[in-house]
Amino acid sequence: MLKARKCVREMREYHSPLSAPATELRLDMNENTTGCSPRVLAKIRSLDAKLLALYPRREYGERLVADFLGINPSEAMLTNGADEGIDLLCRAYLDNNDELVLVVPTFGMYEVFSQGSAAKVARVAAGPEFGFPVDKVVDAITPRTRMIIICNPNNPTGTVIERADILRVLEAAPDAAVLVDEAYFEFYGKTMMDQIGKVPNLFIARTFSKVYGLAGLRLGVLAGATEQISVLKRMASPFNINAFAIECVAEALADRESVDAYVQQVSRTREWLRKQLEALGVKCWPSAANFILANFGASKNNVLTAMGQKGIALRDRPDCEGCIRITIGTQQEMERVVRELQQILAGKPEVQQVAG
Ligand SMILES: Cc1ncc(COP(=O)(O)O)c(C=O)c1O
Repeated sequence: MLKARKCVREMREYHSPLSAPATELRLDMNENTTGCSPRVLAKIRSLDAKLLALYPRREYGERLVADFLGINPSEAMLTNGADEGIDLLCRAYLDNNDELVLVVPTFGMYEVFSQGSAAKVARVAAGPEFGFPVDKVVDAITPRTRMIIICNPNNPTGTVIERADILRVLEAAPDAAVLVDEAYFEFYGKTMMDQIGKVPNLFIARTFSKVYGLAGLRLGVLAGATEQISVLKRMASPFNINAFAIECVAEALADRESVDAYVQQVSRTREWLRKQLEALGVKCWPSAANFILANFGASKNNVLTAMGQKGIALRDRPDCEGCIRITIGTQQEMERVVRELQQILAGKPEVQQVAG
């Protein structure tokens, strides 16, 4: 019988929450619940049949994005979502028995993509309050470490990693590809992008799926040293980005008003929600992203099921005991969430109490 490679046969099946029954309000994927910029939508509507008959010109979009990021086009690669960039890095740098260092809990797809080779994952547990355990990360680096992924701000905790800690990891592992995943950069505002072109083993992933509200378009960018990006470009299809996405880049980047308004609203609503949850006795962690991690303790399953029945999808995080990740929607949407939670929790007092 035909057999796929051993490491592929042994891959765990990935269950996307999207396979769950459809819900009316999706707060489980950190999408922008207000949608994309009207300028982007107008651009999509204006595209004609001739354009779609042509293979897409990735280099055109790459120049625009590189310019926006303040790096050279040779240091940028547009990817089919940030996911493709992560996958390409794993395929390019991880061989059998190589090691990938991750601080957990973190974004689940890192491990999924690493399974494309028989690499080993060295999981370093986050410190107290999900802090970045930089000493332990440095200690976990061995001669077999070929890749380290730092998610900043981290999904699902929303916590951030200091620049000095990232620089320390980069220096401690000169022979490893160090990816800083900045999918939620816009909500945090701090980046390592200025180090592209200076630090040869640094990569940065960004996405148009979150702040730009374009998850359905599948567009991300990977930044890195020219020599490394040119290798990655050889591995991917030259047509990995669709024409719609490329044509929309200019409008998406230009509409700063949309981006700024969304970031401001989400930040305000997130802090409002945190206070509301804490008033319900639910512990939350400070977040610098468009989601919040909340500990419902023994009530977790009840909350997930009951909210699902009310048409609201929240994200179970089995990797953080008792925790649910909630995407921040509009103020109105979150008011509805709080009202529903108040009702559900009224009969369930066993939530994790807020410390101190
Ligand atoms: C940390 C992180 N990186 C990457 C991604 C994937 O983004 P994209 O939709 O661009 O593939 C996500 C999506 O949730 C994410 O949370």
